[in-house]
Amino acid sequence: MPDRTSFDLVIVANRLPVDRVTGPDGRVELRRSPGGLVTAMESVMRGREGAWVGWAGEAGEASDPFVEDDMYLVPVPLSADEVADYYEGYSNASLWPIYHDVIVQPVFKRRWRSAYEKVNRRFAEAAADCAARGATVWVHDYQLQLAPHILRELRPDLRIGWFNHIPFPPVELFMQLPRREELLRGLLGADFLGFQRRTDAENFRSACRRLLGATVKGEIVTTEDGRAVRAAAVPISIDADGLQQLARSEPVQERAREIRHELGDPDLVLLGVDRLDYTKGIRHRLKAFGELLSEGTLTAPGDVLIQVATPSRERLEAYQTLRGQVERTVGQINGDYAPIGTPAVSYLHRSFPREEMAALFVAADVMLVTPLRDGMNLVAKEYVTCHGDDGALVLSEFTGAAVELQGAYRCNPHDIDALKTTIMEAARSPLDERRRRMRSMRRQVASHDVARWAQDFLDDLAAAPDKPERR
Ligand code: ADP
Ligand code: F6P
Repeated sequence: MPDRTSFDLVIVANRLPVDRVTGPDGRVELRRSPGGLVTAMESVMRGREGAWVGWAGEAGEASDPFVEDDMYLVPVPLSADEVADYYEGYSNASLWPIYHDVIVQPVFKRRWRSAYEKVNRRFAEAAADCAARGATVWVHDYQLQLAPHILRELRPDLRIGWFNHIPFPPVELFMQLPRREELLRGLLGADFLGFQRRTDAENFRSACRRLLGATVKGEIVTTEDGRAVRAAAVPISIDADGLQQLARSEPVQERAREIRHELGDPDLVLLGVDRLDYTKGIRHRLKAFGELLSEGTLTAPGDVLIQVATPSRERLEAYQTLRGQVERTVGQINGDYAPIGTPAVSYLHRSFPREEMAALFVAADVMLVTPLRDGMNLVAKEYVTCHGDDGALVLSEFTGAAVELQGAYRCNPHDIDALKTTIMEAARSPLDERRRRMRSMRRQVASHDVARWAQDFLDDLAAAPDKPERR
């Protein structure tokens, strides 16, 4: 590894790929962080020499930089107040709802906004400290929208890119944010801005036109100081090769058979895999499944649902409310329809190793991906990669994945009757149709994998219209 001030590539994200977890006995353990960003960037960083600047998931002092899995990790400290104000507050109770169609009411507090600015500066300073002269710095996601501008002020020699893992909202929603113009100016500190869908990039450019009076020609936004910044779609993906190999391995295939056996060898296994987040449409999915059982269209234990609901943002009220609703509904469905010893819904509220996730994808006949809004949804791509030809994917129209995965059974999760019909259509479709759909989706993901995504992003960044000022 080169010394810590000389990295040519620096990743800046709210989270490091591992969380530091201090147990009650004071022992420190490193655990893989949740979410699609980490899944994607972990595989990008393997085989590249670079630093990753991020928070280690615990309040308090940060440890010194360390190497984990061949990655040079630079922890950024957050105090307990900053976790509450920058992460839980502004990032996840103000921005997150606005960027996801206001599914829950956003909350705005001036104290949260100040913390967001302070923490964005800290991340930018940490990146500036470990970037070599003329280095490429790749900033990630909605938690760090002010960082590109701060970084440019600190280090005009850098090439700065930013990628948004979540949707970018229509201007009518974005406008609700207090001090909204500063967010746009913060982002325009970058040379290139990447989004999941063309619509997200268009929304950003419209916001610049409407709220900053910026000139926008095609994908190029001209900033107030005359720089040209490109904002375009670069949809994220997965390590398709690696995951397919894992899924085809004998231990994973064996584990998939075992999972079905443990469920009582059902005829139909439906699967949902999500962070326990109100954007994911878990309640709508459970409602549809419950009604299919109550009408007798499906019957337990022949037809079952596995719902993996990964713990997420557990101190936030909206997430606690959702957890209560989901767990109550699972209990009701099992109470009403499951025979002794075999639940109709197997509910798993914890994290699993990659092998177990792959086995679940192999075991499931139909994958239910029903978010109300989702930037991409990597789970959809993981399922079509892992499962054989006889699978079926039910996919919400409100995900980035729906743009690419044309072979999915598309649904509007708000329309419960239509969702039920789509689930049954997917479950009962003839094998040749499933095969055609699954193969086309698998080909799409294989030819647009995470390595291609990262290379496309870095090429776009290198070719961005304005050359950085060299000092
Ligand atoms: P998000 O980024 O909103 O969480 P994505 O679907 O894009 O949603 O990415 C989620 C990632 O986390 C996927 O790689 C998925 O396999 C992984 N994942 C989800 N739940 C679990 C779990 N319980 N254990 C391990 N990995 C999980
Ligand atoms: O992809 C969206 C995202 O918010 C990522 O930024 C994040 O890593 C992931 O989901 C999980 O959320 P959190 O980091 O808040 O646990």
